[in-house]
Amino acid sequence: MAASSSFLLFSASLLFFIVSPSSQASSRPKALVLPVSKDASTSQYVTQIKQRTPLVPIKLTLDLGAASVWVDCEQDYVSSTYKPARCNSAQCNLARAKSCGTCSDGPKPGCNNNTCSLFLTSPTAATFGEVSQDVVAVQSTDGKSSGKLVSASNFLFTCGSTFLLDGLPSSVTGVAGLGRSKISMPSQFSSAFSFPRKFAVCLGSSHGVIFFGDGPYSFLPFNIDISKSLIYTPLILNPVSTAPVSFNNDPSTDYFIGVTGISINEKPVSLNKTLLSINKHGHGGTKISTAAPYTVMQTSIYNAVVRAFIKEIPGIPRVQAVAPFGACFNSTGIGFTRVGPGVPIIDLDLPNKEVWRIFGSNSMVHVKDDVLCLGFVDGGLEPTTSIVIGGHQLEDNLVQFDLAASRVGFSSSLLFQRTTCANFNFTSAA
Ligand SMILES: *[C@@H]1O[C@H](CO)[C@@H](O)[C@H](O)[C@H]1NC(C)=O
Ligand SMILES: *[C@@H]1O[C@H](CO)[C@@H](O)[C@H](O)[C@H]1NC(C)=O
Ligand SMILES: *[C@@H]1O[C@H](CO)[C@@H](O)[C@H](O)[C@H]1NC(C)=O
Ligand SMILES: *[C@@H]1O[C@H](CO)[C@@H](O)[C@H](O)[C@H]1NC(C)=O
Repeated sequence: MAASSSFLLFSASLLFFIVSPSSQASSRPKALVLPVSKDASTSQYVTQIKQRTPLVPIKLTLDLGAASVWVDCEQDYVSSTYKPARCNSAQCNLARAKSCGTCSDGPKPGCNNNTCSLFLTSPTAATFGEVSQDVVAVQSTDGKSSGKLVSASNFLFTCGSTFLLDGLPSSVTGVAGLGRSKISMPSQFSSAFSFPRKFAVCLGSSHGVIFFGDGPYSFLPFNIDISKSLIYTPLILNPVSTAPVSFNNDPSTDYFIGVTGISINEKPVSLNKTLLSINKHGHGGTKISTAAPYTVMQTSIYNAVVRAFIKEIPGIPRVQAVAPFGACFNSTGIGFTRVGPGVPIIDLDLPNKEVWRIFGSNSMVHVKDDVLCLGFVDGGLEPTTSIVIGGHQLEDNLVQFDLAASRVGFSSSLLFQRTTCANFNFTSAA
């Protein structure tokens, strides 16, 4: 216990010296902001940063649970500030990259001798990639609009290969890992600029925003600061990795919350509660993910929720289901409210009687004329994680990850507050 906490302390101070801000201390930003757009063909959420010297804009798919940032270094990676991480260096330690290697067709970015590497996976492929550092620049913010570009000079990332881009949107050249690790984007920005270990994700069906650092998180047209009205629930650490492949007995880098039940129109749905907790193999529980376009539930939970929902929506004819959904309705009889189709309210019940309330705009998916489907997906009988709260359910909700206080803050639908995640005041980068 003592050993591991002093290790934590050691690596936190290490990170501060490794990722250094290159802007003057006097202009140190309080927070940073990144734009997010949803790629229509893949339903992935994509952001853009600037990297390298000279700076070039690069697009990255967001992955809330991924440990690190990776970028394709095989194509068009030109930078005078690229630095591979040497074996056994502080950088390799921080990245927990234990494998050490040589590369025959270098030296070039992604291919150097005596460097450490991390295992990278895509939906269809996997490979080792060189751990590296380069300059990363993003816009600062006062929480109300975007401000001048600031840079972190030694941002740690992994050099991936072009074939790993398979399955990502065509404009994208890597993945922005926001996960629970020391080298994720939020951890590195907090260290580089010494701001609180918090970040907030606000996804949209077309545009959204991510904030690194504390609020305000203000949205037009009324400049409402959403950070003032968040409800909090404890962040849960899953002690067992939930990544497709893991080497070091590392804990999961995914963000878990303690859903205790699900209610529809405030009536509890009867569920197998064992599935809601995390067992000793790291299976079960509820995580939040930007990689799943819709919330995925273990089969018995999914079936119980669909049955209960149908029971609460009498008189609305069901129509032929449209995959991947299992329950679709003729929408002509469904009214419309400020928070989307007027359908039964779905609550994810949380400790201390808190609820994450899901209204029609987040529960229903418009699949074609006259047809609305319940936007949840059957995850099979034995998924690693029982409930994965996915993109559609997160859209136009602001979710803050407060790593220092180990809690998650959520806003419920911003539509109630007459705004959306697309309404952050982005001004062009200075
Ligand atoms: C790595 O070392 C090997 C053997 O010494 C050498 O042939 C190769 O060119 C080196 N590669 C790089 C990228 O320096
Ligand atoms: C957006 O931000 C810019 C820069 O701070 C400001 O001049 C402008 O008035 C803001 N727009 C709105 C609609 O508030
Ligand atoms: C509940 O889920 C657990 C974990 O999958 C399983 O072992 C158990 O048999 C289930 N209980 C019931 C009553 O289905
Ligand atoms: C929905 O119901 C309306 C009115 O009853 C009907 O005209 C329409 O064909 C139905 N649409 C579908 C997709 O079933």
